[in-house]
Amino acid sequence: MRRAKISIIGAGNVGATCAHWAAAKELGDIVLVDIPDKEGVAKGKALDLLCCGPIERFDSNITGTSDYKDIRGSDVVIVTAGIPRKPGMSRDDLIQTNVRIVKSVSEQIAEYAPEAIVILVSNPLDAMVYTAWKATGFPTNRIVGQAGALDVARFRAFLAMEIGCSIEDITALLLGGHGDTMVPLPRLTSAHGIPVSELLSSEKINACVERAKMGGGEIVKLMGTSAYYAPASGSIQMAEAIIKDKKRIIPCAAYCEKEFGVGGYFIGVPAVLGSGGVEKIIEIKLESAEQKLMSESIAHVKDLVKVVCDLFPELA
Ligand code: NAI
Ligand code: 2OP
Repeated sequence: MRRAKISIIGAGNVGATCAHWAAAKELGDIVLVDIPDKEGVAKGKALDLLCCGPIERFDSNITGTSDYKDIRGSDVVIVTAGIPRKPGMSRDDLIQTNVRIVKSVSEQIAEYAPEAIVILVSNPLDAMVYTAWKATGFPTNRIVGQAGALDVARFRAFLAMEIGCSIEDITALLLGGHGDTMVPLPRLTSAHGIPVSELLSSEKINACVERAKMGGGEIVKLMGTSAYYAPASGSIQMAEAIIKDKKRIIPCAAYCEKEFGVGGYFIGVPAVLGSGGVEKIIEIKLESAEQKLMSESIAHVKDLVKVVCDLFPELA
């Protein structure tokens, strides 16, 4: 059987950690790509990781490069190229720099890996997914953003800590953009089927909601740059669902027309991920307060996309 090929653009914190999780799960061969100035870093990290194979028992071939020709034949490309935020910055402050990077990376992906399914990670996430969609010209099912997998994992972790139960037993859902306007849905969140409202006071649930919303910022404050273990873990959860055609339901930034009243943007929604990429959006009926929050989040994503289109009118 042919091994899957995963290319990861950006060999920094998130990119290298994606390679680590992908290798540990033996998902396939891995190519780490960075700019020519950082080719040594990409090659060095790839070689270091490859040498874990005999200990961790994976056979993946892992290489580093700055040459996009090496991504040929990729099944999945994960884009982590771009600057991360520093303390005091919001994800939106990254847009001017990262839209240029993501546009140019996407053009290379379109040229060298035209059949790939692309998972965006660079921030501000929802606007970068839009940028990649326009710059690659790929169909919407092959362009998707990682945010919900991370945000829901944070929400689940904080709830499990509060309840005092295993993280495995918490299932949760959240929608919306990757940022302060994300929409966690406590109504659809449970511990082994028991609604969290039976287990925690509304104050405690709200505290978990707020901590999930601000989880990225909490880590930036602590370590001076943004998180990478959980973001990479979420990205590889998505890649695994695609490569193994698992049809997993994962909240991710997917293209929605009528669904949730989005109207032609990428935003966090529950989606089925399989070998076709985003195979289905699962639309659920929201209560009016939830839809109001979702509409605010959609409006924020639209504002970010407008910034992208003002900078690069050809992406409109
Ligand atoms: P980092 O600075 O450690 O790594 C970024 C890498 O991208 C650097 O090695 C840089 O040289 C490379 N790069 C820049 N331009 C490139 C190009 N044209 N081609 C190839 N590589 C290029 O940053 P980190 O922490 O890995 O974060 C990367 C991005 O991911 C940031 O924008 C960050 O905000 C975002 N992020 C998103 C998350 C999400 O949940 N969606 C979570 C965490 C980070
Ligand atoms: C996070 O949520 C920075 O988007 C990144 O950690």
